[in-house]
Amino acid sequence: MSKQDYVLAIDQGTTSTRTIIFDRNAVEVASARQEFAQHYPQAGWVEHCPEDIWNDVLSTSRTALEKSGALERIAGIGITNQRETIVVWERATGKPIHRAIVWQDRRTAATCQTLREEGAEALVRERTGLLIDPYFSATKLAWLLDNVSGARARAEKGELAFGTIDSFILWRLTGGKVHATDITNAARTLLFDIHRQQWDEELLRLFRIPASLLPEVKDNSTIFGETDPALYGRAIPIAGMAGDQQAAVVGQACFTPGMAKATYGTGCFVLLNTGDKPVASKNRMLTTIAYRMGGKTTYALEGSIFVAGAAIKWLRDGLHLITHASQTDDMATRIPHSHGVYMVPGFVGLGAPHWDPDARGLICGLTLDATAAHIARAALESVAYQTLDLVTAMMQDGGGTTDALRVDGGMSANDWFCNFLADMLQAKVERPKHIETTALGAGFLAGMATGVWDSEKTLAATWQRGAVFEPSMPSEQRRTMIAGWHQAVRRTLTTTG
Ligand code: G3P
Repeated sequence: MSKQDYVLAIDQGTTSTRTIIFDRNAVEVASARQEFAQHYPQAGWVEHCPEDIWNDVLSTSRTALEKSGALERIAGIGITNQRETIVVWERATGKPIHRAIVWQDRRTAATCQTLREEGAEALVRERTGLLIDPYFSATKLAWLLDNVSGARARAEKGELAFGTIDSFILWRLTGGKVHATDITNAARTLLFDIHRQQWDEELLRLFRIPASLLPEVKDNSTIFGETDPALYGRAIPIAGMAGDQQAAVVGQACFTPGMAKATYGTGCFVLLNTGDKPVASKNRMLTTIAYRMGGKTTYALEGSIFVAGAAIKWLRDGLHLITHASQTDDMATRIPHSHGVYMVPGFVGLGAPHWDPDARGLICGLTLDATAAHIARAALESVAYQTLDLVTAMMQDGGGTTDALRVDGGMSANDWFCNFLADMLQAKVERPKHIETTALGAGFLAGMATGVWDSEKTLAATWQRGAVFEPSMPSEQRRTMIAGWHQAVRRTLTTTG
């Protein structure tokens, strides 16, 4: 048998699924990607078809394996995924009983409001590090149990299984043999105590979730199971799993307290490593688990904004202002300044630090000489401003003093954006050579459990810097622009919180 020195990473994101095979130097050997359908059954609702997700997992992984010709060299599979999105399936058949309800879905906003009014937030915050918002899994799961005929009764009889997307993929890859999740995905459900690191009975009662639905919770880098040999022609260990933002922390080698990364996918998520201590936020940031390896837990402060790349996708698919995301770089460079035009991309409400599910998007400051370029630039700027708001809140929370932010994901390929971000943060922005850091993180986790890499130190040495962006904007100009942004945000908010 040839030596097993490659890892295969499956990155199941909000709008696409990709598989990347990496070698021991973290160099991409082969990849495949597939976009899939988004379903919007009502305003504010977002669903995915789990069978689409499964088919794309299979087809992209098979294509990547075929392109690489390296089936025998794969030491392990890593799975990373859009977090919080829920699937419920029948244990007997593996068949989902409903479409997946996606993290962006706002259908449970009223339920969350009621729970807050009933005073449940303090308990939730203390146990889970999160807050009560439709973003997280628990209220979506309760909705599904209450709205799919017979679901609650079947759940109580133990006939159904719940999982975030990692769990569903694991179940399918192992031919229905393993029902497990990893600690980072569990930590996003509102049902998991991040201190005791177990499902919490009081929270299960609060959200009316039967314990029989729940998967077993494991470390991020461990053997979860083996693939059904019929799928790829051999049984491959599934050796790493993590929610996509936490996988990016690993892929960016943010292993030291004080290191932070921002991943620009559909949304943007900034995670700051706070070491072995969970830091409670006073600024409505989330306290979450960054990873647990060898039983040792590392915590993070997280700021979540729901629309980043999605704003650029909207410029393309909604407004037809561009045909390709990369055009925004050129458009933003072409004009000397944004001319007072601001976009607040509250398409699915606003996340941290506002947590206003009813806020909606806004473009303001338009004059007759505003052009498509101003709107494109305002979209890019809005993502940088939101990142600034998150980083500022984290610093105020005492999470450390980050003088550099590591960026990755689609928008980080845009040089203009990275420069503007450095200006807003007044800090260095570091972009790795390989911006698909989420997949790399899943690969790292799988490789750590299968002997491809042996320590965080080796992983950190494997991480390669691609470019560094330094701040250069005069501070007066910066202050004026930020003040304009905050004024625009105030116009979108429906709450004062
Ligand atoms: O919490 C949601 C997040 O995991 C989604 O990530 O990359 O699809 O924006 P992404």
